[in-house]
Amino acid sequence: MEGTAPVSSTRQKTTPGRGAGSSRSRKALVPPVAWIFRTNIPLRRGMPLPKNAQRRNFFGIGEVLSVLANPGETLKSLTEARKSLEDARREIKETKERSQLRTTHTFAPLPGFFARPAEVQAVERALSGTPSFTVLIGASSVGKTALLREVLSRDAYHVLHFDLRIAGFADLGSLYGSLSRQMETYFETLSENVEGYEDFVKEAWGFKHDRLGMEKLVEAHGPNIVKTSDIARLMELFQSSLLRYWQFDPKVPDSTETSGEVKGDDAPERAPGPSSKPIPSSPEKAGSSNKSEGDRPKKKIPVFFIDEAHKLPALIHSTETMKCLLDAMLVLTKQDRLCHVIHATSDGFYQSWLRKLNIMQHCKLISIGDCSREEMKVFFRERLLPSIPETMRNGLDFDTIYEAFGGKLVHWTDYATDYVNAGGDLPVKRSSHFIQAYTLLHLHLVNSVDSDFATVEEKPKPKRRGSSRKPSKHGFQIYSPLTAETMVNYDETRSVSDAGSSEGSNAPSFTTSQLLDIMRRLVVPLPSVNGHERAGRNRHEYIPYFPLCRELGVHAVDDMVRARILELRWMDTVTPEWEVDDANNIHITPASEDTHSDGGHAAAAASSSSPPAWHTHLQVQDSVLGSESGRPTNGVDAGPKLVPLTPIVRFAMREVLKEYEMECDYFFVDREVADTARGRAAGGKTSGSVKGDDVSDYASAASLSDVYEY
Ligand SMILES: Nc1ncnc2c1ncn2[C@@H]1O[C@H](COP(=O)(O)OP(=O)(O)O)[C@@H](O)[C@H]1O
Ligand SMILES: [Mg+2]
Repeated sequence: MEGTAPVSSTRQKTTPGRGAGSSRSRKALVPPVAWIFRTNIPLRRGMPLPKNAQRRNFFGIGEVLSVLANPGETLKSLTEARKSLEDARREIKETKERSQLRTTHTFAPLPGFFARPAEVQAVERALSGTPSFTVLIGASSVGKTALLREVLSRDAYHVLHFDLRIAGFADLGSLYGSLSRQMETYFETLSENVEGYEDFVKEAWGFKHDRLGMEKLVEAHGPNIVKTSDIARLMELFQSSLLRYWQFDPKVPDSTETSGEVKGDDAPERAPGPSSKPIPSSPEKAGSSNKSEGDRPKKKIPVFFIDEAHKLPALIHSTETMKCLLDAMLVLTKQDRLCHVIHATSDGFYQSWLRKLNIMQHCKLISIGDCSREEMKVFFRERLLPSIPETMRNGLDFDTIYEAFGGKLVHWTDYATDYVNAGGDLPVKRSSHFIQAYTLLHLHLVNSVDSDFATVEEKPKPKRRGSSRKPSKHGFQIYSPLTAETMVNYDETRSVSDAGSSEGSNAPSFTTSQLLDIMRRLVVPLPSVNGHERAGRNRHEYIPYFPLCRELGVHAVDDMVRARILELRWMDTVTPEWEVDDANNIHITPASEDTHSDGGHAAAAASSSSPPAWHTHLQVQDSVLGSESGRPTNGVDAGPKLVPLTPIVRFAMREVLKEYEMECDYFFVDREVADTARGRAAGGKTSGSVKGDDVSDYASAASLSDVYEY
């Protein structure tokens, strides 16, 4: 047997010690006996074999005896061994899964994206200049995310994407983790997917190890150990990694001029540091920033994209951290020119908040609106109709749908789905979007009635800036996703004038008469043609923001925005939502003039000879401002404007006003008489009582099913 020789040699080696007769003689006597029970089998799986594994023996009888002597301990170590085996297996499986994750494709274009050339061009322009901090602003569901997905998923860009709708952070620790993981993935993907950039896996490791260090600290001291300085350090790490990225010149196969080292065309000469090598000003230039063009993979432009950015203050409670993060973004863009930053938001007040933090003056603003009428015609013909069963198509009329939903793509597709589900019988007024808009308006009107009534009785003077009307005690409360804590930081800035919020109350501070008045101004009844109301045109009335604030008080106006009745537009949208003709005038014509009826539905195409609406945008702005309602175009209206939140809200306003008109002849009587009459009408709705409780009862009874009967 193999064991024989070593055994004898061991014996020979141990014998001299014994023969020496030292003071350890008793101990020395043991080895000759103990070797019999020794084993070379490691105690635990995973332990290394002993060096003298050859010195073997009695088939592990030592273990056998120890198992017999202590069965409990043995069982315990067996269980532990099994557990660690399972852990190891799970870890291997997870690593395998992780390696298959498609990190680069999580940010993909929206399937079936409907081309919006003007908006795409606006975003491209913003990304083609020197790195900028861009705020993309537009009403909810207008297509901001879809647009950015379309542009940013192109090869020229590499995106760090944070969707705050599904943000994985609620405190500094999780914010740190979320940022760090994204940054790690960013450089990991770069090293894996772009030839020549393998070395950038070290940047990814940098983020990983910094995070692991933080995790250990959090484990030992709790989550409060993470401080703003840790976020700052992380941003610095990102800054230096990006700097390395731009200075890096990848190895070119078969090139005579390069070695495998990091050797940029200016990396050795220029010391690393801010602005030592700015980001190229366009994707094309980005690709040619290295010497041998064509051979080398193009350098992607990093874009730090935060979607639903107005939720940042709700997620990051510390103003100090918020400022640190935003300042770091400014450094990455304006100062070091390392990457682009895009914040997308549907909150008109977000930029007031950025202004308070001294960020706004460094930002570019892009305002996104709905599609133009011409675009919608194409959408209707090429996208919507083909998705409707042929037998049901005749029931769809372009003008009717456009009048209700304007250029809001998502409302068109939702309506089409509901229409098909309803078997081709779904008037617009039974569509869910109309019912929601209609209900919202009525709820606000009836809930504000008590303060309004008081107003009528007290005959107050018209509101001036600074005068604060007492908000309704029972007003239909405005939902705010912000917590009480963040309200302190953010909500008080949700007013353009910095005048503060309405006494910390969620009850809106506008009254019924104010709301009705606003609705009336936004929905001018269309003059009739041959006794018929003109169809097919959506009047795009707006109200200038600041004059209205002077008239009603800033709280009332801001609350209408917060209540999601109005949208606050800081600047004109990329695609103008007004109808224009070649002479740059507002162009309102009966539907029959430019649409062709084809079996009951309009099939008019965008004229290929006329330029797209967005081409005329710049020239037309002046003539558009105010011209519809006879307002001066001398720049008075150049400031922010208020429009109904969506086309369907405007449409619902018209319907609600018709009801009020029937009840109190609202349009044709003197304002003050109308106020009284309206108060009476609203009072009638509440069984002749204006007590708040009754109003609340009515409000709670106004469920969707009630409205559905309308
Ligand atoms: N260009 C487009 N093409 C096709 N569908 C669109 C387009 N823009 C918006 N949509 C539709 O509208 C929905 C909301 O768009 P989204 O980009 O999420 O809006 P936002 O980010 O402005 O809130 C999308 O899910 C999509 O169905
Ligand atoms: Mg979005």
